Amino acid sequence: MLNKNDCILSVINLCKSYSDHNDKINILSNINFSLYKSEVVAIIGSSGSGKSTLLHIIGLLDSPDSGSVIINGLDTANFSKSERDGIHNYNISFMYQFHHLLSEFNVLDNVALPVIIRNNSYEESRQLAKDLLDKLGLKGKEKKSPGELSGGERQRVALARSLITRPNCVIADEPTGNLDKKTSMLMFDYFLEMKNEYGTSFIMATHDLDLASMADRKMCLEYGNLSFI
Ligand SMILES: Nc1ncnc2c1ncn2[C@@H]1O[C@H](COP(=O)(O)OP(=O)(O)OP(=O)(O)O)[C@@H](O)[C@H]1O
Ligand SMILES: [Mg+2]
Repeated sequence: MLNKNDCILSVINLCKSYSDHNDKINILSNINFSLYKSEVVAIIGSSGSGKSTLLHIIGLLDSPDSGSVIINGLDTANFSKSERDGIHNYNISFMYQFHHLLSEFNVLDNVALPVIIRNNSYEESRQLAKDLLDKLGLKGKEKKSPGELSGGERQRVALARSLITRPNCVIADEPTGNLDKKTSMLMFDYFLEMKNEYGTSFIMATHDLDLASMADRKMCLEYGNLSFI
């Protein structure tokens, strides 16, 4: 039974459209749902159905046309930049569909940066980053620059970077898009480890139906509507 006190975030009557010349294209039409502590939720839906748009709005990286995003019981609509930064540093971690790694830093520092920013010691942060990279099968890649990695390796570095702060919630946009089955499972196992050990919640968009079927809840976004399946 889901407990209302364990609600990490909710979206209420969320709408988003884009204009295409003179047409208005509705991408999200009145979306409602809540994400709870320690659950893994998968969102499937065809390419262009609006999964990334929805995740960006939930992650406070984009604004809806109307509707609310409630995080930790607070309506985020009028959050200042520093309140949004606080959510990103301490509550919600976003893993982008297209990595956004920093090319001027090596792999180890890319992963360590979010904890260095929190004023942790440089050496401790790098050790945490190294341990996480080892777990995600990237031992020996620490000194490489992101440009020297394969797409799937970069994806795992981005994942490590989004997990290193042990956020309450990870929003992951196609986290296994570039990974083979075995590496996808390695990554999903680590999601489960974080869920069981720290109560982390995950909401992920994916085209991988096998992965989606392992989530606690599965939702489908089509024609602007989100339904539980
Ligand atoms: N900034 C924008 N301006 C106009 N249209 C946009 C913008 N961003 C997204 N769209 C449109 O919104 C729709 C949904 O895009 P979105 O990236 O959310 O889809 P998606 O479900 O994540 O697709 P994929 O599975 O390919 O990643 C697409 O038709 C896209 O062209
Ligand atoms: Mg997308």
